[in-house]
Amino acid sequence: MVKVLNVGLLGLGTVGSGVPLLIKENQKKIEDITGTRINIKTAFVRNIESKQTIADKFNLNLTTSFTDILEDEEIQVIVEVMGGTTLAKEYIISALKNKKHVVTANKDLIAIHGLELVEIAKENNCFLYYEASVAGGIPILRTISNSMSADEITSISGIVNGTTNFILTQMSQKGLSYDEALQEATRLGYAESDPTNDVEGIDAAYKMVILTRFSFGMDIDPLKIERKGITTVSADDIKTADSLGYSIKLLGFSEKIKEGIHVEVSPVLVPKTHPLSTVENEMNAIFINSFGVGESMYYGPGAGAKPTATSVVSDLITIAKNVSLGISGLSFNTFNNKTTFAKEENVISKHYFSLRVTDEPGVFKRLAEIMLAENVSLEQIKQETEKIATARIMIITHEASLDKIKRIETKLGNETGFEVLSRFKVLN
Ligand SMILES: NC(=O)c1ccc[n+]([C@@H]2O[C@H](COP(=O)([O-])OP(=O)(O)OC[C@H]3O[C@@H](n4cnc5c(N)ncnc54)[C@H](OP(=O)(O)O)[C@@H]3O)[C@@H](O)[C@H]2O)c1
Repeated sequence: MVKVLNVGLLGLGTVGSGVPLLIKENQKKIEDITGTRINIKTAFVRNIESKQTIADKFNLNLTTSFTDILEDEEIQVIVEVMGGTTLAKEYIISALKNKKHVVTANKDLIAIHGLELVEIAKENNCFLYYEASVAGGIPILRTISNSMSADEITSISGIVNGTTNFILTQMSQKGLSYDEALQEATRLGYAESDPTNDVEGIDAAYKMVILTRFSFGMDIDPLKIERKGITTVSADDIKTADSLGYSIKLLGFSEKIKEGIHVEVSPVLVPKTHPLSTVENEMNAIFINSFGVGESMYYGPGAGAKPTATSVVSDLITIAKNVSLGISGLSFNTFNNKTTFAKEENVISKHYFSLRVTDEPGVFKRLAEIMLAENVSLEQIKQETEKIATARIMIITHEASLDKIKRIETKLGNETGFEVLSRFKVLN
């Protein structure tokens, strides 16, 4: 006889309404695979009237009281798709302490409070799964923790924020300014009314915290990630990068270097021959370098009701399988290492500088002196005269360590006649 796994759903918005849809569409397949019927029994909502139509469509009970779900002994799993870090955290902890397994799509919560929640899940012998928290529809976390468990990841980089990738693609393809592209993203629903978390790289940093835990077993504070958003990327940077053979992408980057890891989120010049350069608009991709597989890339939609719900339901299916096998309490990620950070002198890459300089003799000589003092040489250089008595100089350095590049940036910033407009890493 088919068993039933009863689920309480917290939040019936974009992802929340995708979950019952996916389960309904794939009911037979899910039952074949798990021997279990996944039943969304009750959904917790703020306003019953506004969610009645969708509740009727999928035969859901609605409640405005979380206690109704918490105290329902038939409900074995809570799916948290409300968002936020306060109430969501409180409800997840209560659910775990009441021996209910938890699935969430909440990257902010998992990045900030993940370790605490994992401990509570372990203490209560419950599963806590969050496949949808990174790159929505791309099954990246289970790929790293299961399929790549025999491999050693040396670096993981990703376009993990669809909003910023959409904005940068529009700037590149249509020659829009940052503000114009942001307006377009807002109009099409890709950017929220307050886009800060996306455009400042905060959302990408949360995802890199989770990817770093899975890839290197190391935990980092999202606030300690070196982070630069896309607000400093100008139409001129995009044009120059294009003419030099690069696209500009907001990349999250986590790399193991000798003694530790280096994690950052920043706009990066990506060679047009690199697979990440082909990832356009709202799409996401994760690029992994590893000892066994070599290079691999995982591409797909990072958001949206159906893609994200697919990841949420895959977590429910894993729980259903484990429950029917009598397994409980396994952590999603069991890879664990002491966190150590790489020294900046060992973080090596090329860098792009865009400088505004006074248009007078001696400027190039002074630039060369500053570079030479740090033993950093130039690979490419371009100059454009501006309308006023200034010129814009764009350079790409040869590979150099991050500490040297930062000292050069500071010296140029302090130098009379020089203004550093932007400095981005360049991918090989
Ligand atoms: N959207 C995506 O594609 C995507 C992708 C990956 C991960 N995620 C994550 O998934 C989660 C949900 O995102 P979403 O896009 O589905 O958000 P959403 O469309 O805003 O839906 C959230 C739902 O939760 C409800 N809610 C929020 N606070 C509540 C409260 N205190 N009490 C009762 N209901 C409450 C909202 O109710 P109202 O309708 O009454 O406001 C809304 O229906 C977030 O953590 C997000 O980061 C989303």
